[in-house]
Amino acid sequence: MRFTVALDGPAAAGKGTIGRAVAAHFGFAHLDTGLLYRAVGVQAMQDGRGVIDPDWAGEIARRLKPEDLGREGLRTRIAGQAASKVAALPEVRQALLAFQRDFARREGGAVLDGRDIGTVICPAAEAKLFVTASDEVRAQRRWKEEGGEYAAVLADLRARDRRDAERTDAPMVAAADAVLLDTSDLSIDAAVAEAVAHVQSRFDAVRG
Ligand code: DC
Repeated sequence: MRFTVALDGPAAAGKGTIGRAVAAHFGFAHLDTGLLYRAVGVQAMQDGRGVIDPDWAGEIARRLKPEDLGREGLRTRIAGQAASKVAALPEVRQALLAFQRDFARREGGAVLDGRDIGTVICPAAEAKLFVTASDEVRAQRRWKEEGGEYAAVLADLRARDRRDAERTDAPMVAAADAVLLDTSDLSIDAAVAEAVAHVQSRFDAVRG
């Protein structure tokens, strides 16, 4: 049985939490695709070239191994910014495409969360959700996790959203056939319940 759930949306909208819960509910595998870009971004940064060289970042992406996704330091704000920068490079996106598509079509079902899953990686995904929330709510969530200055967290989030939405290659955008899920005023349980209900309805429609 193959069944792909594409979960896209901006940073801190709740994709990760929803993705893990949906995967657990249906017994599907889950891939946080942001980790791929974070791993490439952090390595490109650590190589100390200051300005990220597209060819070199592409090489890092081609050599990426599954164990690189478990490295420490990938969840930091700096890693997020580095990820967003390398994610704008077509060389990097191209190098990470096959791994994501293979994951999506694995036996037993898969949930992938990211920015371009429903549009570029898996345009034929059986279920698509675009998870969003207001800038302020998303910044509040990040700020509670990370601390620091709220205004800086909000500015950082907006800068990342802008870069992700305005890049030419696979920009963050809701697929025409994605269901919108605004989590601004929803509890985690309520957001998960809505996502599960949508996936279940698509599952019933496809499996009929
Ligand atoms: O979801 P995240 O915050 O971990 O993602 C980090 C960055 O990686 C994000 O700012 C943009 C990029 N990204 C992407 O371009 N495409 C994806 N499918 C996932 C993440």
